[in-house]
Formats: sequence, structure tokens, C-alpha cells
Amino acid sequence: MHRTLADDLSRLPELLQSARDFAAREVAGLAERPVAAPGPAPGRAPLPGEGAGGAGALARFAERWAPGFSGSAGPRYLGFVTGGATPASVAGDWLTSAFDQNLSGPGGSWAAELERETVAWLRELFGLGEAHSGAFVTGATASNTVGLAIAREWLGERLGVDVSREGAAALGPVDVLSGSPHSSVAKAMSVLGIGRDRLRQVPLLPGNREAVDVATLESALAGLGGRPAIVVANAGTVNTVDFDDLRAIAALKERYDFWLHADAAFGGFAALSPAYADLVDGLDAADSVCVDLHKWLNVPYDAAVQFTRRRDLQVAVFHNASPYLGLPAGEPDFLHLTPENSRRLRALPAWFSLVAYGRAGHREIVERNVALARSLGEGIDALPGLRLLAPVRLNVVCFTLAEDASPERVDALAQAVAASGEAYLTPTVYDGVPALRAAFSNWRTTEADTRRVLDVLAAVSG
Ligand SMILES: Cc1ncc(COP(=O)(O)O)c(C=O)c1O
Repeated sequence: MHRTLADDLSRLPELLQSARDFAAREVAGLAERPVAAPGPAPGRAPLPGEGAGGAGALARFAERWAPGFSGSAGPRYLGFVTGGATPASVAGDWLTSAFDQNLSGPGGSWAAELERETVAWLRELFGLGEAHSGAFVTGATASNTVGLAIAREWLGERLGVDVSREGAAALGPVDVLSGSPHSSVAKAMSVLGIGRDRLRQVPLLPGNREAVDVATLESALAGLGGRPAIVVANAGTVNTVDFDDLRAIAALKERYDFWLHADAAFGGFAALSPAYADLVDGLDAADSVCVDLHKWLNVPYDAAVQFTRRRDLQVAVFHNASPYLGLPAGEPDFLHLTPENSRRLRALPAWFSLVAYGRAGHREIVERNVALARSLGEGIDALPGLRLLAPVRLNVVCFTLAEDASPERVDALAQAVAASGEAYLTPTVYDGVPALRAAFSNWRTTEADTRRVLDVLAAVSG
């Protein structure tokens, strides 16, 4: 064994203790560290020849790189839809690495069964029935991709084509209909050989809405002349957190032949609160469902879950048949369900968080975040230099400059907020208007943080 490895092996507890102390210090200071990187990253160092050992690596990381890491896990990083990491989920994540399980194949481990338990808990949390099976993937993009891959296989079933053998081209042109799809849906269509251009955006409800007009969707389906299609329903849009009427869309299945995929990446968490659960009423009727976990469950990157009612089709797409891996029979191994073959036990951080805080703890995060988003929305509404672009429906505040909201000025506003170190917001375009979004999905954010964000906005918006 190389000298540095042998040294580290003999001092493993000390190394882990140092990493623990460093992490604890950093995380304790998270609420006050600048939310965005202070400047350009250092230049690249040469590949180490002999190696500095674990303690040396920690020292170099602390000196060269950690100072430029953002406070994105902290309470005032409101860019994109960024969750933090609950204390228990961090512990679970560390243990994922320490145990280093590979969930492919039977592997002589209970780890896959832990993933199944976690998936069953999440299914219940999001109000899905037992007809849905699920698996962990890396994020909502991967979850949408898996859902649409199963949809593609279903189209083959309807058209008498074995897509997994014959290829997507054998299907002919595929119709994917959606109101306000996330960009990851088009990416998934590109990956799956359906093609980005096959996405048909169906008109939205009038009156500042991002939800699909179900009557127009019905006409579009009727116009397909009986050809099976894919409908992507959106449960929580990124700009204004609008929700398609899932129950009404699902009811169309009685008359039209389509696969219903629901992108509930963060909107699915509405199910946790009786106050908002009606927004995702009907989610269970979807054929496949995407929910992200590194967003509102507040587990570390990267984790999402995908659910489907047709695991048989999922196995048809993803099975990895080889004598040494075991063929899918009975309860399939995860390697026959998801794009990866070797897989990290990314269920463990979620398992830890669910055990530690339960349904009640995670509901509190959702309800607090929504209350804070509304409070920021009210504050912004009262600022003369800014105006809300949509009502705060759940956890995102979408707003712009009251006057001359050019892309340059809105961008400059976002940069001024980031440069203050106090908060981080990301630009968007809503209904043709350059805008900013403040997305609340971090477990640590408080009313005091929201006041600080509002103070910065008041200062930089004049
Ligand atoms: C509705 C929706 N779908 C999909 C995604 C993609 O998520 P990820 O970055 O985890 O792949 C996002 C990310 O914000 C989202 O909001």
C-alpha cells in the first residue's frame, strides 16, 4: 500500500474528525457567509505527484477552494429552486459515502431494501397509491427523462412497436403536449430520440396563468385522430408556481389515448400541507411522476425520485441483461429500472431526514417557506421601484422593476443583490418581461432572513 494511503488508514478517525470539525464550522457560519462566490476561482494546480494525504488535501481545499464556495445551502440563497440540507440528511449523506454501497445486483446488502422503504414513504408523503413504484435518480431532469422513456415504451405498446429493440424511429413522429413545461422536458425528448421539436406547447389559461387550458388540450388531443400521445402536466411552474388541473387532465384519458407524465419537481411538496394539497389533487392518476428531493425535501445534491404505474415497461427500457448481473425477475434490481448501472445509495439522506423530522417536520418547512414567500411578496409590492408580475401562489416571488424593466437593468439588479452578499436571486423572463425570481425552499430561512432580502432589494432598486 502506498505510504500516504497506509498513513491515512492508520489515522482514519482523526481525518474524519478533522473533516467533521471543518464542516461543522462552515455550516455554522452558513447563514452569514456571502451567498455568491467572491470573485474568480484560483488557477489550476498541477496534478499532485506524491500526494499530501487526507489531512493535506483538507488543508488545501480549505485554503484554495472553500472560500469561493457559495452559501447556496444557506437561508438567503433564493436562486433557481435550491434546497439546503437538513442536519440529519447531511449525516445520512456522510454515511452513504462511508458505507459506499453499490445498489446494482443483489450484492449481499440490505441497502436496496432501504431504498424501497424510502420510496414507499415518499409515495405516501406525496399522496400516491401503491400502484406507483419508484426509484431514486439524480435529479428532476433524470426523473423526467425516465418518466418519458417509459412513456415512449408505452407508445410502442399502443402502436405495436417494441421501442427498446427497434428504436424510437420505429414510432414515427411522437406528439408531446404540455402547457408550461420545464426546459428539462425538451432535454429529455432530445436524449430519448423523440426530438425537441415534437414538444407542442398548448395555450395557457387566460389571466396571468401558467396552467394549461384543459379545453384547448382536449381539442389538441382530439386533433390527433386517435393517435396515442404523451401529455406532460406541470405541478409547480418555475416562474409563478402554477399548477395544471391534474384531475381534469386525467379525466381526459377516458376519451383520448395518452400517457400522463406529471412534473411535480417541487410542486409535489404541496401535498404535505392540508392548506395546499388540493393543488396536486389528481397526481396519483398520472402514469409517471417526477419529484425532486434536493429541492424541497432539503437533502444534499443529488437526489430525486421517479414513480410510475408501469414498472413492466420501465424494465423493458432499462433492463441490463447480462448473466453476471442477474436477470430481472420478481422485484427487479434498481439497475434494471434507471439509467445507471452502479448506483450510490442516495436514498439514505432522505431516509435520515424522514426518520428525523417525519411528515410533520417536512410539512413545517413547506408551510414556513410559503408564508415567507408571501411576506416577501407583500414587501416587494410596497416598494416603489419594484412590481410583482404574478400573485405569490406558493413559494416563488416573481417580480421586476416598476419602470424600464430591460434585460440589462434587471440583470444589473440581480448582480447588485448578489454583490451585497446578502441574497441570491436568479433572472427569468415571464410573459415576455425580464424578471427576477425569489424561490423559498430552504429549511433554515426565517422571517428575519426575509427582512434582510427585502432591505437589500429596497436599497438596490432605488
Ligand atoms: C419543474 C421542474 N422540473 C425539472 C427541474 C430540473 O431539476 P434538476 O435540476 O434537479 O434536474 C426543475 C428545476 O428547477 C424544475 O423546477
